[in-house]
Amino acid sequence: MTAPFLRNVWYMAAWSSEIGEALFRRRIAGEPILMFRRADGIIAALTDRCSHRFAPLSMGMRVGDTVRCPYHGLTFAADGACVANPFSDVLPKGATIRSWPVVERDGAVWLWAGAPEEADTATIPDFAALMRPCGPPLSGLMPMNAGYQFGTDNLMDLSHIEFVHTGSFAGAGVIFGGEHRVRQSGETLHSDWWMPDVAAPAHTFGIYPPELRCDHWLDMRWNAPASMLLEVGATPKGQSRDEGCIVWQAHILTPESETTAHYFWATTRSSDQVDPGADAFLRGLMGQAFEGEDKPIIEAAFANLDGRDFWGEKPVSLGIDQGGTRARRLIETMLRRETKTA
Ligand code: FES
Ligand SMILES: [Fe+2]
Repeated sequence: MTAPFLRNVWYMAAWSSEIGEALFRRRIAGEPILMFRRADGIIAALTDRCSHRFAPLSMGMRVGDTVRCPYHGLTFAADGACVANPFSDVLPKGATIRSWPVVERDGAVWLWAGAPEEADTATIPDFAALMRPCGPPLSGLMPMNAGYQFGTDNLMDLSHIEFVHTGSFAGAGVIFGGEHRVRQSGETLHSDWWMPDVAAPAHTFGIYPPELRCDHWLDMRWNAPASMLLEVGATPKGQSRDEGCIVWQAHILTPESETTAHYFWATTRSSDQVDPGADAFLRGLMGQAFEGEDKPIIEAAFANLDGRDFWGEKPVSLGIDQGGTRARRLIETMLRRETKTA
C-alpha cells in the first residue's frame, strides 16, 4: 500500500459470504486483490496482477488450489509462488506474486496490508457483538464515490441524523438534547451520545410500548482505518443499560482508491427471533438510510471539494464533529510513524 493509505492495519476485504471457489477481485487501498477459498476452506489473497505482463489473474482459471494466468498461462499457488510455466520446465526468476495475510472473523475477511511477519490478529477490531444466537446479522456493501474518511466524518458525528435521516432514523430533535463525549483509549476512539428520558426510539418498536420513556444511547467505536461498531441502546428510564434493548451495527469503510470506498454495513436485530417480514422491513430501512440518505450527502460533500485538501479548506469546527477530526489526526500520526520506520 502506498500513501495516503496505512500499511500496518487490518482492512476489511469482504464479508465471508462473498468469498467462495470463484476467483474474486476487489481493489483495496489502491491494490488489486484476488481472493478465493482453497479446497480446505481457507481464503487465499494475492495481488491480482501477473508478474509477466500484468494480466489480472482473476480473469484466469483455477486449477485445484492454483490459479492459471489468462494471458500466457503461468500458474501460481495460493501462496503466490509460480508453480508452472507452459514454455519450459524452468520456473522464471522473480515470478512470485505477493500474497496477503487474511483472517476470517465475525463474518468478515480481514486483510493485513503491512509486512506479513508483523500481522498480529489480536489487533483485528472486535465485531463479535454482531454474531447472535439466531445467526449472522443483516449485512450489505455499498460502493461510495468519496474518500473513505468522509464516511468516518459522517459516522463519528451522528448529529447528522436529525437532518439527513428524516426518512429513516431521525428522532424529532432528540439528539440535540443529548450529551456527546469523544474519548480515546490507546488508538481506539469512542464517540458517544447519551439521551436520557426520551420517547422510545425506533429500534425498540415491538419490544417496548411506544409511550414508554427511555434512556437512549448511541456509542460509536472507531479503529483505523475506518472500522466502526455502533451500539444503539435504550432502556426504560432510570434502569441499567444491561437490561436494555440493544442493536449492534457495523460500519466499516475500506478505501478502494483515493476517491472511492467500500462501505460494509451490518445490523443485528432487536430480537433474537428471526422473522422474515421484520428482516425485510429492516433491510428496507437500512437501504433508505444508507443508500438513500447518507451516500448522496457524503458523495456530494466530497465532490464539492473538487480534490482540494480537507484541512487546506479550513473546515469549521462545531464541537460535535471532533470524533471525525480526531480520527483524521490519528491516521496522520500513524502515517507519519509508518514513514519514519519505512
Ligand atoms: S501475463 Fe500472465 S503469463 Fe503473461
Ligand atoms: Fe447516517
